[in-house]
Amino acid sequence: MLVFNKKSDLSAFLSPLIHQNKSIGFVPTMGALHNGHLSLLKKSLSENDVTVMSIFVNPTQFNNAEDLDKYPRTLERDVQIMQELNDNIIVYAPEVADIYEGNTVSENFNYDGLENQMEGKHRPGHFDGVGTIVKRLFEIIKPNKAYFGEKDFQQLQIVKKLVNKYNIPVEVIGCPIHRETNGLAMSSRNERLSVTAKEKAALIFQILNTAKAFFQNNSVENTIQFVENEFKKHPEFELEYFEIADEITLLPISEKEANKKYRGFIAIFIENIRLIDNISLN
Ligand code: PAJ
Repeated sequence: MLVFNKKSDLSAFLSPLIHQNKSIGFVPTMGALHNGHLSLLKKSLSENDVTVMSIFVNPTQFNNAEDLDKYPRTLERDVQIMQELNDNIIVYAPEVADIYEGNTVSENFNYDGLENQMEGKHRPGHFDGVGTIVKRLFEIIKPNKAYFGEKDFQQLQIVKKLVNKYNIPVEVIGCPIHRETNGLAMSSRNERLSVTAKEKAALIFQILNTAKAFFQNNSVENTIQFVENEFKKHPEFELEYFEIADEITLLPISEKEANKKYRGFIAIFIENIRLIDNISLN
């Protein structure tokens, strides 16, 4: 399997393939791979001639130094996992300098307000960091298709907006959330949870599902109240937000409207680890 550390080497390798009209699929990640990442990879492998996966813990999207520091870095294991899946995957695992060239700062992006909701509100600058890295990776790799998980639903919508605003010729494909058997959404951050916390965290998806059923016959306000009350019964959790928002604008809704799609979005701490999840409500 080919692992590139330098964008110049990767571009030199990809450029003749692009000239031969080979389709390039791209899966950006921060590593510590799990089955959620692998589901994106499998989809790309099935739809493209060449699949590139990037592994890069992007410093500019972390608004908390400790979170960046503690983010799991398991490159050797990740490469082994990919090798077992398919030896033809091309890996790009750069150092910070290869991407940022001594200037580790974000560009500023306007995503028509998508960046001001939920994760944007609670993690200032986060989506500037995401936009910066994703745009640079698109410029280096020039993929035809790029795969993003609905686990980070707001990120998916923001990347679609980025591509649209900057006329980047890539098709952004959203992929469903992969879960542990107990329902916990897979995440690299789960590796930092104790065994007990991992078991308890199953409650997040249970409550989201119950909220979905509750929402069918109840108002937005009462559904939010319901979720907040449920978590109050479990003091090991610290709820940061639960919001019901329009899938496209990501604006919180106060009342249901016909012909609109809604999702419930949650950010919650357990053992000081911040987890996010979401569920389609209609
Ligand atoms: P990371 O958290 O490593 O996730 C990489 C991709 O995998 C994202 O598109 C994410 O939504 C998807 N993913 C993660 N967990 C998933 C799950 N349980 N089911 C389905 N898909 C899942 O998201 C990032 O990295 C970064 O912000 C990145 C886009 C790489 C930019 O740095």
